[in-house]
Amino acid sequence: MIDLIRKLFTDNSLSHEELVHLIDNRSEESAKLLFRYADEARRTYYGNSVFIRGLIEFTNYCKNDCYYCGIRRSNRNICRYRLTKEDILNCCKEGYDLGYRTFVLQGGEDPHYSASFISDIVYSIKSEHPDCAVTLSFGEHGHDVYLEWFKAGADRYLLRHETADKTHYSLLHPDKMTFDNRMRCLHSLKEIGYQTGCGFMVGSPFQTTQHIVKDLLFIKDFKPEMVGIGPFIPQKDTPFGNRTAGTAELTVYLIAIIRLLLPTALIPSTTALGSVQKNGRELGILAGANVCMPNLSPSHVRADYAIYDNKLSVGGESAQNLKALSEQMKNIGFETVIDRGDHIERK
Ligand code: 5AD
Repeated sequence: MIDLIRKLFTDNSLSHEELVHLIDNRSEESAKLLFRYADEARRTYYGNSVFIRGLIEFTNYCKNDCYYCGIRRSNRNICRYRLTKEDILNCCKEGYDLGYRTFVLQGGEDPHYSASFISDIVYSIKSEHPDCAVTLSFGEHGHDVYLEWFKAGADRYLLRHETADKTHYSLLHPDKMTFDNRMRCLHSLKEIGYQTGCGFMVGSPFQTTQHIVKDLLFIKDFKPEMVGIGPFIPQKDTPFGNRTAGTAELTVYLIAIIRLLLPTALIPSTTALGSVQKNGRELGILAGANVCMPNLSPSHVRADYAIYDNKLSVGGESAQNLKALSEQMKNIGFETVIDRGDHIERK
């Protein structure tokens, strides 16, 4: 095990079989060693900086029906909302004054927002805050639409691949959504020049170690600038409402492996991780993550963006409470910085 972890640290890669072994035979000791190396790798490129992003969840309408997600179209038990351009610009203004230099516009796939409307919002944010980065996280679209948003000024795009196994993908999504289109989107984004993020849920229904290793090898091969992973958490009004949640333990172990596979990646310690375990956010950072994305949405809509149950949006998860987050990070030896926080090869 020790040799395997050393090899991962020096080569930044392992074979399929080696990764299976590293995951299936993990222990507290192997985790400790892995975290130490992951920390060292991260410090080489990013020091002890934690980059912060203001997350604006601008619509919880969605035309898709993913079996795991609380804002899926079939869920009639949620209160739907949409933010206006003015709402979004106000969030950014507030976020800017708080110290945020990246705004992440995340939403369900809501056809109400036309491509040109999104372009206009991106363009306006970049005009008002030329020193800021804009990240879009708005699902699957055509190459031309992604290109239009890039030209309007969008810098980054988050689109989790969800699972790198085609069969597993079909067990998490209705037939209308395909693995192939997901991959097509990710390759478009990269080709256009976005700093691109992919990722997956840990402990999603039907997931095996084989699937996870496929995810890791896909990530290694695709070389995204950003990788977001978090535990699957059931949402009671979805087909997976009775499933068990993924664990923080495996999530942080995988964060460390991803850090060593892609030492320069931007890796968030996600809200889902903070939601399944107290101090989850800190544990993610200690395992090699270097990004936090507190919620900058207007407070009256936060509870409605319920992709899973018991989602945190208070304390360090609230953008307004940057002081609390900075304090949490300081306590474990890290520093939140006022910076766009670009990928080191894209500055
Ligand atoms: N548990 C954890 N993560 C979820 N996501 C969606 N639903 C859930 C859930 N029930 C994740 C997906 C999606 C991202 C925005 O949130 O991976 O890409």
